[in-house]
Amino acid sequence: MANRRYGPPSGQPVPFTEYHQSKDELAGLPQTLAEKVPVTSTPNIFSYKSYVFAKNPALVQRYIKATKADVGGVGGHVVAADEVKSIIAKFVLDNNGYRGEPIFTSLIVTHTGDDVAVTGIMSEHADMSVVDELMWDALQEGAHKAGELGLYGPGQDLVADAFTGNLRGAGPATVVLPFPVRKDNPSQTVLASFADKTEPMAYNYYATGAYMLPRFNTGLVIASSSMKRGYIFDIVDLDTKAQAIEAGAHPRDLKALDGKMEELSKGLQEKVIRLRVPEDLYDIEGLCRSSRFVIARIWSRNEDGSPGELGYVVSAERLHNIKTKKGFTYGGKDDPVLLAFAQGNWPAPGEITSPWATCPMVAGDCRGSHNLHILPMPINSQTSFWSGPIVSAITLSCNIHTGRIGAISDQFALGTPWDSVRRQASDLAIQFRNAHGVKQPATLHEDELEYQEGWKERRARLEKKFQVMPPLTFGNGNGHGSANGGAKQPAAGARAGGRPEEID
Ligand code: 13P
Ligand code: MG
Ligand code: MG
Repeated sequence: MANRRYGPPSGQPVPFTEYHQSKDELAGLPQTLAEKVPVTSTPNIFSYKSYVFAKNPALVQRYIKATKADVGGVGGHVVAADEVKSIIAKFVLDNNGYRGEPIFTSLIVTHTGDDVAVTGIMSEHADMSVVDELMWDALQEGAHKAGELGLYGPGQDLVADAFTGNLRGAGPATVVLPFPVRKDNPSQTVLASFADKTEPMAYNYYATGAYMLPRFNTGLVIASSSMKRGYIFDIVDLDTKAQAIEAGAHPRDLKALDGKMEELSKGLQEKVIRLRVPEDLYDIEGLCRSSRFVIARIWSRNEDGSPGELGYVVSAERLHNIKTKKGFTYGGKDDPVLLAFAQGNWPAPGEITSPWATCPMVAGDCRGSHNLHILPMPINSQTSFWSGPIVSAITLSCNIHTGRIGAISDQFALGTPWDSVRRQASDLAIQFRNAHGVKQPATLHEDELEYQEGWKERRARLEKKFQVMPPLTFGNGNGHGSANGGAKQPAAGARAGGRPEEID
């Protein structure tokens, strides 16, 4: 297209030979292993050779950006298709340019369940809205391929009617974390985590565990870094529907509700509260126990208590807050993504991920309508039992001078104690599902089933059949053993009417 703002100046796709691929990293080197036991499906890292191997790279502000969307699933919502991922990767690599510089110096394309993610390092040269446009168009290409393959729900998360300059509020989840700019020490560890079949609130387990409680992060007590001072949390109220009702819109007046929601989300504004760890621990736990409030950003603390560096960002958005031609979509859970720094002023990867070993239940699951135990899974895994929630977490070794993702490790690889967590979470999930079936708490509260049209119809039909009636009575009494009508005398200690004086 002529008016695309991205792409190399030649107008031709970037030749594939311009990229170094980590799958070839041992080319020309002696291999130290004769065989390798596969414990994860390690992503192939694409790096722009002339930049990541530059002798004197420019000391510029760089960012890591992760963008994730469901553009169509194999066999329902189970898993992303390799071909769709490759088409997305090809589009990004071919068009990886802006004003004569690459947009991404290094990038990976992964999946977690049916969600595809593009995670890459970019510099301040790239205009963020141009990067969003590149991502939007790449995901559209993926959606076309999904359609061609007959996948389920092609373009599922591309909710907005058209790209309007920003991915936020368009459907895909996207987060950006600025790297520190420093001459010394080019190494920065980043943890990227993707969840499927759940909602942003699930990530409150990361924050209220590893960034708040020494039980999950010994560093809070023994590290000499700024971690000893705790952190600053930005907590976002995601529920603009609840906000609209609280502001006076009647929950059954859809027009009033939509109007208020539109007003509240004008300009992509959000309702945020800033709280501090450790002093606001109870307030944070109080808010963050529900789906409504999500810890979206975490800052380190300077000596004077002011916010220092940003080191944790979650895609805290709900798709049902997005207005389209069809109105607000009220649809689905919003499979979140997280980028977080590790080490230094931040928890170690093993500390960040440790809360998942407790096998918590999260909302989402099949039809986005259940609670179930979340499974920590290797990157590039599928969902399975009851379309249950899964979370992946990889750590990226990044060179902040050259903008290269040098190597990747998988926190939830096979052959680790996470096998045991998966076993335990699976056992609990199977028991919980079988015990409760359609009943709460296995299914979500009515408010969260709002987009299940079948339930809405059933509920509306039954509601009309309810009648207001006098209580059921027997003989002259009220059917509950009262003193009338020759009923027995109240037992000692009980008042006439049957209620005991004291209840404990
Ligand atoms: P996704 O949000 O991952 O597409 O899941 C939808 C769903 O309801 C699966 O049953
Ligand atoms: Mg899906
Ligand atoms: Mg999904």
